[in-house]
Amino acid sequence: MTEYQTIEHDVLVIGAGGAGLRAAIEAASQGVSVGLVCKSLLGKAHTVMAEGGMAAAMGNVDDRDNWRVHFADTMRGGQYINNWRMAELHAQEAPARVKELEAWGALFDRTPDGRILQRNFGGHRYPRLAHVGDRTGLELIRTLQDHGIHQGLDVHMEVTILTLLKDGDRIAGAFAYDRERGRFRLFKAKAVVLATGGVGRAFKITSNSWEYTGDGHSLAYHAGAALQDMEFVQFHPTGMIWPPSVRGLLVTEGVRGEGGVLKNRDGKRFMFENIPDNYKAQTADNPEEGWRYTQGDKNSRRPPELLTRDHVARMIVSEVRAGRGSPHGGVFLDISWIKEKLPNAEEHIKRKLPSMYHQFMQLAGIDITKEPMEIGPTTHYIMGGIRVEGDTQMSTVPGLFACGECAAGLHGANRLGGNSLSDLIVFGKRAGEHAAAFAKSNGSVSIDAQQVDASARGALAPFERDGGEGPYQVQESLQETMQDNVGIVRAQPEMEHALQEIGKLRQRAARVGVKGNREYNPGWHTALDLNNLLTVSEAIARSAIERKESRGGHFRDDYPDKDPAYATFNFLVRKDGKSGEMQIAREPIPPMPAHLAAIIEEMK
Ligand code: FUM
Repeated sequence: MTEYQTIEHDVLVIGAGGAGLRAAIEAASQGVSVGLVCKSLLGKAHTVMAEGGMAAAMGNVDDRDNWRVHFADTMRGGQYINNWRMAELHAQEAPARVKELEAWGALFDRTPDGRILQRNFGGHRYPRLAHVGDRTGLELIRTLQDHGIHQGLDVHMEVTILTLLKDGDRIAGAFAYDRERGRFRLFKAKAVVLATGGVGRAFKITSNSWEYTGDGHSLAYHAGAALQDMEFVQFHPTGMIWPPSVRGLLVTEGVRGEGGVLKNRDGKRFMFENIPDNYKAQTADNPEEGWRYTQGDKNSRRPPELLTRDHVARMIVSEVRAGRGSPHGGVFLDISWIKEKLPNAEEHIKRKLPSMYHQFMQLAGIDITKEPMEIGPTTHYIMGGIRVEGDTQMSTVPGLFACGECAAGLHGANRLGGNSLSDLIVFGKRAGEHAAAFAKSNGSVSIDAQQVDASARGALAPFERDGGEGPYQVQESLQETMQDNVGIVRAQPEMEHALQEIGKLRQRAARVGVKGNREYNPGWHTALDLNNLLTVSEAIARSAIERKESRGGHFRDDYPDKDPAYATFNFLVRKDGKSGEMQIAREPIPPMPAHLAAIIEEMK
């Protein structure tokens, strides 16, 4: 018999970044009891790595902006395989969610006449990112935390979920352990919202911290939910590359939004070399025009540094491969050059990009007001995730909801920077609302003791293999495999090799042993993360092999062009109920309604 503490809530929210907090606040406001579980301490979330802003068509800086333009930009960035309903809701509702945050106490930067200031970001036609210097995600989390405390949420910190529990087809809660003492907890719930973020730790170079091991993706998959678009991983073009200890740490796109330029070893702005046809009409072909655009000139076109992230990251890789990279294998990002244009450049940079200034000064000894930064792509985000219904955010498992990065659909093949923070608050709210409604309209659940015992046995097994290989070696091999074979530029032989390696790593993971006991045991935690990391890695590799074209974040050397035949469906990943094997299927994208198709046509 497994010993555990039982805790009961109507709605259990797993993950306490922006999406989880917003979902929990909304569910609580509907009068149901809400538990909020986080793997780490409350407030420590990847949300804070969305530094440069949240996209919402408020039109404060350019009154030509509106939800229709935002919708069209999001669809174009996602290369038209997005869930168009989610893209519509997101564009329509983001401004209200941003204003709500302001009402709850978020302190945004202001325009001279006192409205919320908005900045340029890649792929957004107009300045659209409401921001707080380069600490927007942090302000979002702070505001939601402050607001959430007053909603009567039960917060369970430093708790990791091991398994989702089912009552027949329906979700019934989750089985977990607390990371401090290693004691088991059973959460009984009528509805569960997954908001666990991404999978960055499946790769070697990432902006994600230790928590992001694909937990929600993997929990949902093993509970029978479908995953979608797992081949689309976003490599943010600008992460730190030196010194090695901070490799992958994010350098906000806000640097480019404020006029920062990319240069190769020879000092050349290489981004002018290759401007994709579908962005040519909107992209400056000379530095002067690009600069004017970043300074708010409405008659200018964007600099090529503000093309979409997938394109910018690939351009950096090709510069490095051509031998024109920086000393540590990246390129240069220079904001200091703006002193040629602005008399108060140093003060301006420190005010607009305070975190970047301190980050480079303290971690690399670089003064970004005087010298360029050395940067390279870093795994930042996954567009793929749990398949959800657009309006409600319910997955294919009744009672199981998902929002934020662990849910799929909004971003299609490539997310526009800034569309993540707005995603979290728009769909966090919707997930919370519909999870509460589900809990109210469905009776109580019963817990299956066999599911609980099996989960507990699996969790404790590594202690019985003292002397087996340690979990860190397996984790490191997986990260190298994914980085080297399923990274920014992909090809069939490498991806097949990765799949074989993942199979071998699964066998190694099954033999991993840990020493000591359940209290404060990071080796044990890492051993338990491996199943999630392996599940999402396999889903990424299998989906990437199936998509024999290049689109958005998925670029194949062996199929470098877009193939229109792949624009009509999404790849779904499911666990076969009998064999337990991973299955990939094609799910047709429903036709876009006429009013949305007309917007796309008009914006072209
Ligand atoms: O570059 C950034 O500030 C990241 C923003 C985002 O991923 O949305």
